[in-house]
Amino acid sequence: MTPDLPAHRARRVRLLHTLGEGVLILATAPEALRNRDTHYPYRFDSHFYYLTAFAEPEAVVVLIAGKRPKQILFCREKNAEREIWDGFRFGPKAAKEVFGFDAAYPIGELDRRLPKLLEGQPQVAYAFGTDPAWDARVLGWINAVRAKARSGRGGNGSAPARLSDAHTLIDAMRLIKDAHEIDLMQRAADLSAAAHRAVLRQCKPGLGEWEIEAELLRAFRAGGCQAPAYPPIVAGGANACVLHYVSNDQPLKDGDLLLIDAAGEYHGSAADITRTFPVNGRFSGAQKDVYEIVLAAQQAAIDAVRPGAPYDAPHQTALRVLTQGLIDLKLLQGELDGLIESEAYKPWYMHKTGHWIGLDVHDVGDYKQADGWRALQPGMALTIEPGLYIRPAETTPEALWNIGIRIEDDVVVTPDAPRILTAAAPKTVAEIEEVMRGTR
Ligand code: GLY
Ligand code: MN
Ligand code: MN
Repeated sequence: MTPDLPAHRARRVRLLHTLGEGVLILATAPEALRNRDTHYPYRFDSHFYYLTAFAEPEAVVVLIAGKRPKQILFCREKNAEREIWDGFRFGPKAAKEVFGFDAAYPIGELDRRLPKLLEGQPQVAYAFGTDPAWDARVLGWINAVRAKARSGRGGNGSAPARLSDAHTLIDAMRLIKDAHEIDLMQRAADLSAAAHRAVLRQCKPGLGEWEIEAELLRAFRAGGCQAPAYPPIVAGGANACVLHYVSNDQPLKDGDLLLIDAAGEYHGSAADITRTFPVNGRFSGAQKDVYEIVLAAQQAAIDAVRPGAPYDAPHQTALRVLTQGLIDLKLLQGELDGLIESEAYKPWYMHKTGHWIGLDVHDVGDYKQADGWRALQPGMALTIEPGLYIRPAETTPEALWNIGIRIEDDVVVTPDAPRILTAAAPKTVAEIEEVMRGTR
């Protein structure tokens, strides 16, 4: 599967329609140094990629709305010498044809062409406030138009009088995934679920967290993901109670659980999966008790992903099941509603039950609007990831110490039952134990 270039062009047409009038300017991400003259693997800006599918650095898209709409790409020129060192670049001519632009120019011509393109336009939309250098550059173009108008050196109009935020417009589009985006997310989810299944088969006491991490990364890349969607968490035993544990440098012990939060990115689209399972392939009684509570909370929360429901409904649903579970485990005493009201669950469940997912793992879009939580709509994609994290404490039975469990799936809102993109990653106690035994 490759990016569907007409789908990206159609997004630009929709955005121009929303913009109505004026010019939208959006740059991709800069390259980032890792050390001295060595770069991090390049990752484009998600908003830019959403509109263009163009993955090279040093590129800017300029969209002109109105009666004579125009889509322009600025990108690196062909360069035989640099292409020997760094590889292929499209160059403006080929990029225009392949990616469906009306015009394309060398990135070095941006400062010369932009004042002209802004002349007579009523507004300019760009990602203001995200990069001071870009703020200065765009204001410089606007001032160049003003100076030209004042000096009587011609030109066909005044400078844009209105600034608007390009990200806000694109965020609203990205919140509702189109069919192409969901296809890519499904592929990322399938490849990530396959990686989870592979490490379930391999896990055994004595391996290191780093070895499981290595296998996950191998499986993502070998399957076709371009990169991990985020740094994997491979957390054995007590490490599972550290929410952002990423050192992954401890040995895996017989009798411990292993929490893995890891997934790949496919053509920019992320998956986000967490599974928790026993290192030795068999849940202990206490581990199973806690696991079944988290699983029940997750299943109930997924069922709450319905069009029209407030964004917060899955979280509230998970809280009820988890808090009742904490009562059943005798970690909490009291009446359910009161314990939820007072957030008594917080020592064991301190995060929210999910987030939007898409091109960014924590994807764009507001969770709340002026009148409260946003209502879920078909095409929205979110994670459902409840957990319980039980640290040692005098008042806690020792059998529960260091049990850290999270279960995370990626879910798309549909008119009916939610679509679970990550369903192929084994999740029930029976499934996990059978896969680890090699009987499934
Ligand atoms: N893997 C990041 C998260 O679950 O939010
Ligand atoms: Mn997540
Ligand atoms: Mn995650």
